[in-house]
Amino acid sequence: MALRTAGSVLVVFLWSVAVVLGQNGWSVTYTKNSICTLKGSTVDLSCSYTYPSGYTVTTTTWNKRKNLSSVPGYEGHIEYLGDKESDCTLRITDLRLSDSAGYMFRFITSGGTFSGSPVSLTVTDVVLEMNRRSVSEGERVTLTCRTKCTLDSITAYSWYKNGQPIPNSNTYSPVYSLFSVSSEDTGRYSCAVEGLEDLPSAEETLTVTCKYMGFKPLAFSPSGEIVEGSSVTLTCSSDANPPVQSCTWWFRKNGGHYQSVFNQNTGPHHTFNQIKSSDTGEYYCEAQNEMGTDRSRTINMDVKYGSRNTSVSVSPSGEIVEGSSVTLTCSSDANPPVDKYTWYKKNGASLTGSEKTYNFTTISSEVRGEYYCEAQNGRGSMNSTALMIIVAGKQTSVVTAAVGIIVVVLVVILCLSGLMWFR
Ligand SMILES: *[C@@H]1O[C@H](CO)[C@@H](O)[C@H](O)[C@H]1NC(C)=O
Ligand SMILES: *[C@@H]1O[C@H](CO)[C@@H](O)[C@H](O)[C@H]1NC(C)=O
Ligand SMILES: *[C@@H]1O[C@H](CO)[C@@H](O)[C@H](O)[C@H]1NC(C)=O
Ligand SMILES: *[C@@H]1O[C@H](CO)[C@@H](O)[C@H](O)[C@H]1NC(C)=O
Repeated sequence: MALRTAGSVLVVFLWSVAVVLGQNGWSVTYTKNSICTLKGSTVDLSCSYTYPSGYTVTTTTWNKRKNLSSVPGYEGHIEYLGDKESDCTLRITDLRLSDSAGYMFRFITSGGTFSGSPVSLTVTDVVLEMNRRSVSEGERVTLTCRTKCTLDSITAYSWYKNGQPIPNSNTYSPVYSLFSVSSEDTGRYSCAVEGLEDLPSAEETLTVTCKYMGFKPLAFSPSGEIVEGSSVTLTCSSDANPPVQSCTWWFRKNGGHYQSVFNQNTGPHHTFNQIKSSDTGEYYCEAQNEMGTDRSRTINMDVKYGSRNTSVSVSPSGEIVEGSSVTLTCSSDANPPVDKYTWYKKNGASLTGSEKTYNFTTISSEVRGEYYCEAQNGRGSMNSTALMIIVAGKQTSVVTAAVGIIVVVLVVILCLSGLMWFR
């Protein structure tokens, strides 16, 4: 910086020497040929001039394309600090961006007129640039304090949050980094250049959202009863920040061990295109983001289906004897459980029972026939295959008669043989 200033002074010096030599004593010299300054500040265009001795200066004027004295707003904004001898310094206060221009000094003497070359003035404002305005906790944010041109005077920058200086934040670089931000870093930021702290940049707002895992319950879609064969989607939604990257699904049946539904991680949705009764069980999901892993609550999935595998069994098993009692039982696999049983006898009178069991208290020969049942659960019904019941009543009486006849015959033989012996 110092080197460059020296350089420009040297250039000005050489140039003014040339002017002095070339113009026989006529010259206009500016301390700096090019000035960069901040909007709102005050600048002096330091200037001096010479002319051959013996002349008298009648008029001095500064031009910015046209005679500055005729520019509206000149009063109180632009002030000539020079005189009519050798100083031609111009002061501009409360600089505006529109004051950027080339300014040229010109003077008229009794012996001639002379114009200096223009001095370039660039008015800039301080702009705070933020690489990101909305970030998550732990991320890095870079603030950069920029000006359109390089200010000669800058040696350091000041940084502000919500209008207050950030403690120990002064930097010699126009870049200020917030490493690993937290939610407290949320706020309005601005910057200023040293020496011109009353002319800070406009404020920029930084929003830091905190990172966390969070679960909403596992959801079914469509909601309500789950019927076998329908399409069901489980949603592992989470308001985690940053959003969930992957999900793992787990389920178990009948209180057993949890198993992974898939072997690999999936997205937040899991769809059963045609759900089966074997998919009944408890489910939960594990979601992951860079904060870690979190578990959803467990949800119970109960897949409903109509009655099936209906069958009739008889008890006691074995031969059914006339006069005994027998129970028929109708079994069926159903969810929800069977709520209505209907009993049928093939080609016979209709039966009145509507229970899971059908009782014959005293078996008679008319009971013989084929029996089946129908099980209903509101989701569907199914008939069992027919069960043949054969009543063994007649065979039993033949045996009894035969035994009776044998006993009678034996008694008769005994009586006859006793009678013979007596005689
Ligand atoms: C510049 O304008 C002012 C005011 O209008 C006038 O007094 C002055 O003579 C002008 N100077 C030149 C060089 O025209
Ligand atoms: C029920 O019936 C299905 C066929 O409809 C069969 O695959 C299954 O093994 C049966 N289940 C039982 C317990 O009998
Ligand atoms: C049939 O008998 C069994 C056992 O005695 C009894 O539990 C059941 O309730 C009876 N069924 C009917 C429909 O009376
Ligand atoms: C079961 O059998 C009865 C009588 O034959 C019949 O009316 C009914 O429709 C059958 N049910 C099914 C599901 O087949």
